[in-house]
This record gives sequence, structure tokens and C-alpha cells, in this order.
Amino acid sequence: MSDRQPSRGAPAGRRPGMAWREAPGDRPHWAARRGVPEGRPPGMAWRGVIGEFGSSLPEIDADAVVTLGEGGTPLLPAPALSELTGCQVHLKIEGMNPTGSFKDRGMTVAVSLAAARGARTVICASTGNTSASAAAYAARAGLDCVVLVPRGKIALGKLAQALVYGARLLQVDGNFDDCLELVRKLAISHPVAVVNSVNPDRLEGQKTAAFEVVDVLGDAPEVHCLPVGNAGNISAYWMGYREYLTAGRTSRAPRMLGFQAAGAAPLVTGQPVSSPVTIASAIRIGNPASWHLAEAARDESGGMFAAVTDGQILDAYRLLAVREGVFGEPASAAGVAGLLQASKNGDVDPGSLVVCTITGTGLKDPDTAMAGTPEPAVVPAETEAAAAALGLV
Ligand code: F0G
Repeated sequence: MSDRQPSRGAPAGRRPGMAWREAPGDRPHWAARRGVPEGRPPGMAWRGVIGEFGSSLPEIDADAVVTLGEGGTPLLPAPALSELTGCQVHLKIEGMNPTGSFKDRGMTVAVSLAAARGARTVICASTGNTSASAAAYAARAGLDCVVLVPRGKIALGKLAQALVYGARLLQVDGNFDDCLELVRKLAISHPVAVVNSVNPDRLEGQKTAAFEVVDVLGDAPEVHCLPVGNAGNISAYWMGYREYLTAGRTSRAPRMLGFQAAGAAPLVTGQPVSSPVTIASAIRIGNPASWHLAEAARDESGGMFAAVTDGQILDAYRLLAVREGVFGEPASAAGVAGLLQASKNGDVDPGSLVVCTITGTGLKDPDTAMAGTPEPAVVPAETEAAAAALGLV
């Protein structure tokens, strides 16, 4: 982790890719921008979302902080997408968080506060990433974790994470919306703390991604594209941008563009979807909990919601990997598919400074990854056979 985000501050002359070690007396360039006190010891590692942005978050005692070092993720220029759209596109790589998705930003805050308030058990409904993150932070905090997921509908890697981190996992015969309903009901009558994004502490943590984007770009982007499922993340980003604007740390706020899968697009149609379907299992949600907050983000920012088909999502998923070297999960590709569509339709001006959040790593969903790739050839351990199979002769 030490050579992640801080490496952007490497002094001129340091070879690209060289591990970041601050010389004594060096101060990471992001430290001043974020108002990190001068007294911070040189070379101190990234402290996680609460350590870095605590003054903008609900108050949490230092000894109550549960962190896995989340946040500080790269903001990567995207040359291929920039060429295709005529915009200056950057990718916020949230798959580099400790459990491989943006959920960790909110979970550090939600679990720290739940534990500080005396919770023994946290509970969530999930399409996979929230459960992986909740399970990890609960393990770190010494809490029990219960997760409810739609049966057979979450990616293998996410299921593995929740189980290995030691969560008690129930597969519900129903969809995500049914799981969330169950969680809300269980929490009324049982001593469990809900760590879904209906818990406002989650959104507080997640807004820090907007802070990081601004800290790196020096201002807010003009357009921010996101995949939308339960609609917490787009609401959290908007909260973060608004707070930085109010604090005078940006000159503008971006238009928030939210993209849903065509088979699970309630915010686009304005109607809940009773049986949502899409290959992007993370955003297979028919009745988003943060519906109104997301609509406010759209309206206040002059943004829009739109739907993209599974075909567009898979094309963007492959383009990201093959042209940008970024392996995001299918849901993450929905935001990129949306940008390509919006740019084609004239909904994004050429030249715009655009950020797309890549919300989770592609490693979480090996089934979708392998389904789209040809079976690799098998050869004997012989040079000629390998060369022939590779078409080199
Ligand atoms: N991308 C990924 C990879 C996600 O896991 C999610 C949501 C989203 C986008 C959409 O974010 O819900 O805030 O609009 N995953 C939740 C979960 C629902 O249970 O892991 P949202």
C-alpha cells in the first residue's frame, strides 16, 4: 500500500514505477492539499479514510477506528477512452481498496461507529461487495457479521470473501431488494447494527472518494460517471463534491451521470423493477434505497440517469481491460459504457474533464471473465510446438 497513491508525489527524477520511500523531511504533496498537519512523521503510510479525512467525518475516537488502510486509490488517466470520447477521461480505481471495492470507504466509518456504540453484530443485505467489506471490517473489529445475499446471484469471489472473513451468510430465495427488506425487519427486533448504505455513516465514508478526486485534479471534474444500483454511491459522491464546493476547495461541482443496467433501471424508468436482471450482478437491484438522494444528486448537478444494455456493459468491460489495462467488474463497466453512450448522444461535451469510477475489481467475478474468453491452447513443453500454437512460424 505504501507505494500506491503517495507515489504520485514522487519528486521529479524518480524513476517511474520506483517504490515510493520518502526521504527524511519529505512531505507527500497530497498532505498539504488535504490539510494534513505539518507534524506528520515523514514516510508515514496512508492512514485510511478516517485518518486522512477525519475532520470531515462524524467524530470517531482514535482508539475506536477500525481501518484496513482503505482509500488513497489511483486516479488514472484513460487515453483510449479519452480518444474515443474527445474528453479528458480519468478512472478512479476503487478495486484497489482492501476488499477490492469502494464499499470499504463507508465500512470503516460504519463499523467503527457501530462498535463504538456497543454493537456486537453487524448485518447487511448485499449483491456481494458490501458483504465482503462488512465481513472484513467486522473481523477486524472482533464483531460478528451476518449477511443476506440473493441465492445464486452473487459473484464467486465475493461469496468466497464473506465466507473466509468468517461471516454468517444466508442465501435468500429472492433478490437484493428482498434481502434488504429482511435485514430492515430483523434489525427492528434484534440487537444487530445495519451497515447497508441506508446507514448514513456509510455515505459519510464513501464521500471521501470525491475529496480524493479533487485533491488530485486540483478541482472537481466537469462530469462524473458512476454505475448505480442501490444508489448510495452516487449520493455519497455528490455529498463530497458539495462539501468541497462549500468549503471553497473546488470552483465547481460535476454533473453526476448515473448508469443502470437496462434490465434493472428503476431510476431511469421512474418505477421499481420487481424482477431485475443483468449480467452485472452487483447492480441487479430493482428498488434502490437511496432513490431520492440519487435523484437530488442528478437534479442539483444538472446530471442524468440512463440505461445501458448488458452487451454495452460487456463491450466496455473488455475495452477497459484490453485498451486501458484496467480489470474492473462488470458493474463498474456500466459507468464506462454509459460515458461512451452519453458522449455519442451529445450528452457530454468534447473536451470535458471526466471521471469514471471503477467501483470493484474484475477478480471478484471469474465466471463472467472466463465466459467471454477462448479456451487457451494446450501444448507440450517444446519450443516449436509453442511457436506454432502462437502463430510465430
Ligand atoms: N459497483 C459495484 C461493484 C457495486 O458492488 C455496487 C453496489 C455498485 C456499483 C452500485 O453502487 O449501490 O451505491 O449504487 N453494490 C452493493 C452491494 C449493492 O451489496 O455490494 P450503489
